[in-house]
Amino acid sequence: PTERTLVLLKPDAVARRLAGPILTRFEQKGLRIAALKLIQVTPELAKRHYAEHVQKPFYPMLESFITAGPTVALVLEGKSAISVVRGMMGPTNGRDAAPGTIRGDYGTSRQMNLVHGSDGPEAAAKEIAIYFQPHEVVDATEPL
Ligand code: CMP
Repeated sequence: PTERTLVLLKPDAVARRLAGPILTRFEQKGLRIAALKLIQVTPELAKRHYAEHVQKPFYPMLESFITAGPTVALVLEGKSAISVVRGMMGPTNGRDAAPGTIRGDYGTSRQMNLVHGSDGPEAAAKEIAIYFQPHEVVDATEPL
């Protein structure tokens, strides 16, 4: 099915000038950009996005990291976009991520892992609504 997924190019990706190369990978795969913006994630936004992690011991570090600099937020659309993006990212920890994945090619960190992608349809709907107003998500299926 055609799906939408919320992707973040996290502050480490932007700081390392990897936003372009990572975006290029998604475009080359054939996913369509339905929404895109550069934002500063606030602590409030971080707590909404990471609601299931707020009580965990690593949360303070996660919040410091995700608010440390600009983040690119985007919505990608395509067939099975949610699982396709997750496969392209590789597992959470860059040390475990195979070459050819984004995390496998660009990092070795668990925390500074460059990219976020929604982990299921429910999360995607919730996360897209956190980052984008409905009118910011362009609904224009391409003919090709
Ligand atoms: P992500 O999958 O985008 O969302 C949750 C994030 O929490 C995850 O990326 C990691 O960056 C971070 N994370 C998950 N588990 C740990 C952990 N045990 N210690 C530190 N950070 C973690």
